Amino acid sequence: MYPLKRNRRLRTSPAIRSLVQETIISPNDFLVPLFVVEGKAIKEEIALMPDYYRLSLDNLEKEVKELWNMGLKAVLLFVKVPDALKDNKGVEVLNADGLMQRAIKAVKNACPGMLVMTDVAFDPYSSFGHDGIVAEGRILNDETTELLAEMSVSHAKAGADFVAPSDMMDGRILAIREALEDEGFTDTGIMSYSAKYASAFYGPFRDALDSAPVDIKNVPKDKKTYQMDFSNRFEAIRETEMDIDEGADIVMVKPGLCYLDIVREIRNEVDVPVAVYQVSGEYAMVKAAAEKGWLDHDAVMLEQLTAIKRAGANIIASYFAKDAVRLLD
Ligand code: PBG
Repeated sequence: MYPLKRNRRLRTSPAIRSLVQETIISPNDFLVPLFVVEGKAIKEEIALMPDYYRLSLDNLEKEVKELWNMGLKAVLLFVKVPDALKDNKGVEVLNADGLMQRAIKAVKNACPGMLVMTDVAFDPYSSFGHDGIVAEGRILNDETTELLAEMSVSHAKAGADFVAPSDMMDGRILAIREALEDEGFTDTGIMSYSAKYASAFYGPFRDALDSAPVDIKNVPKDKKTYQMDFSNRFEAIRETEMDIDEGADIVMVKPGLCYLDIVREIRNEVDVPVAVYQVSGEYAMVKAAAEKGWLDHDAVMLEQLTAIKRAGANIIASYFAKDAVRLLD
């Protein structure tokens, strides 16, 4: 008696294992999130995201050159807005000389080939820490959507290749697409955060940008009226199909690891590129466990990134992009 099949044959040596390896990650897979601050010569480590930094524009230029030389060719920009410039209207959002607008130009100036994507959402600019305009305890949908459309045009004017709305308002993709077309930005793409869950894994990011919802009367304490309930699956498909109908070029699932079932489902369902955002809390967990000596940082990182790609991601936004690419060399 012997086993009918010996699956272990395909695992006997590194050579055969590499020959039959189904999923391979490469620098081409990554989108690198970058945090930008005002000032000069600033490279400050983010407390809850070890080895990750907020950069002033001069250091941003250095960073993108380094990324480019490593084969990383796409960045996703976020800005930390000084408190004094935050409001509930979006005045600073549309400042043609605002930090985001200058950051886009700085990246293009330092590294013309770099693909620049920008975060389009109100929260870093909101005095209440919400992705939309707040009124009487609610987040206003249509007023916010108008602002996001203008914000997108402002980013496109500064040179952004793609805008990435991360706000989860209804109808914003259509509003943004129309505004971009009206202004002649027919080649500016939209990567929609289409299935974005109300997740506790965003904590370190909100700390990095000081963008958490504030604890004031009549301001919702969480984002559950716009971000999705993590219990839901069909809703993710509905959201994603709606964004594609409205003109999204790339759709996204966020966070990553806890949502790989959703990633696979969406990958099977739609015919546009699917991005996955491995978010700040996922990054922080690996760093913390590695710091304690409980997990092997590099091995766990590669396993997680490969799993995200195996689940169906065509693009991975990850704070591990540089670490991963260094290991792949
Ligand atoms: C804000 C935004 C968030 C993230 C990306 N864009 C936070 C939030 O929705 O509260 C999270 C990214 C991360 O945690 O790494 N619109």
